[in-house]
Amino acid sequence: MIRTTQSSSDPGIGDEEEHVAFDLDTYKRITGRLDLAGIDFDDFRERPLAPEHLRVVRFMHDVEMHTSCYLRNLLNTKAHHDPDVTTFLTMWNFEEYWHGEALARVLEAHGEVAGEARVGTMRQRLGWRITTSPILWMGFSASTKHFLAVHMTFGAINEWTTQGGYSRLLQIADHPTLTDLLKRIMKQEGRHIDYYRQTAIEHLEGSKAAQRTTRWMIKALWSPVGAGVMPRDETTHLVDALFSGPDGRAVIDRIDRRVDRLPGLDGLGLMDGALRTYGTPTSIDSVRRAGSTPARERDVLRVEAKAS
Ligand SMILES: [Fe+2]
Ligand SMILES: [Fe+2]
Repeated sequence: MIRTTQSSSDPGIGDEEEHVAFDLDTYKRITGRLDLAGIDFDDFRERPLAPEHLRVVRFMHDVEMHTSCYLRNLLNTKAHHDPDVTTFLTMWNFEEYWHGEALARVLEAHGEVAGEARVGTMRQRLGWRITTSPILWMGFSASTKHFLAVHMTFGAINEWTTQGGYSRLLQIADHPTLTDLLKRIMKQEGRHIDYYRQTAIEHLEGSKAAQRTTRWMIKALWSPVGAGVMPRDETTHLVDALFSGPDGRAVIDRIDRRVDRLPGLDGLGLMDGALRTYGTPTSIDSVRRAGSTPARERDVLRVEAKAS
């Protein structure tokens, strides 16, 4: 099915973000394994990342690699009833897997265990939580006819935060090879954003009940992507490293404004709340003191625009 075409410049977003209309048939044609041609992973042996940045890469590797677990849960929900959704999820999972593989090569170049060996350890650590999670998701899906509105909205928010996280990591690491790699990943994340955002709007607009349910579920259940499966200290490190100071503030504000513009979801302040929940007092204070920084925000947007 070809989805309806929207203007690539969404007047609801203004000059903050340009959206390309998502077309599933086009996505099926262009989806694929992340292109790593020309990425010199040995460069990391000569010019390693700083320990605090490598720690963020570990987090992102683990979360990208956890996508198949999310897929496992989603296939037990109403998402499975919609063949367009399952087609997208199939491609999405494939692309996210290769993001994880690429980050594994960064870790390996630093002499670290990565890929399946690291993933196996993570799944052992999660234990009964991932054993039982499909049951919870089935129950969640059965509890509301608006499950897809909730799912698509979570997806859009998580892809926005992932994209924002990568844009901040490449800024703070300032490593040419990492920048090249992350921009390629971000290009694919941009397509995920287009799908989830467009489909979320389709489910939300015109249904106050879907908006109310989604708003309630997000307030009750949303946490930054990865926070539910990674140790608390790692999430705190990620939040402090990526979302503190003026540049972190710019990304937090931008993501929250994007959520505000989804039908019925204004004023949630999710990223601001995440900072207060997971950040250290020092980083929270640095964001508070930063104020609004439109010039820096334009820099972040420029990085994302070039990547997509
Ligand atoms: Fe990804
Ligand atoms: Fe993604």
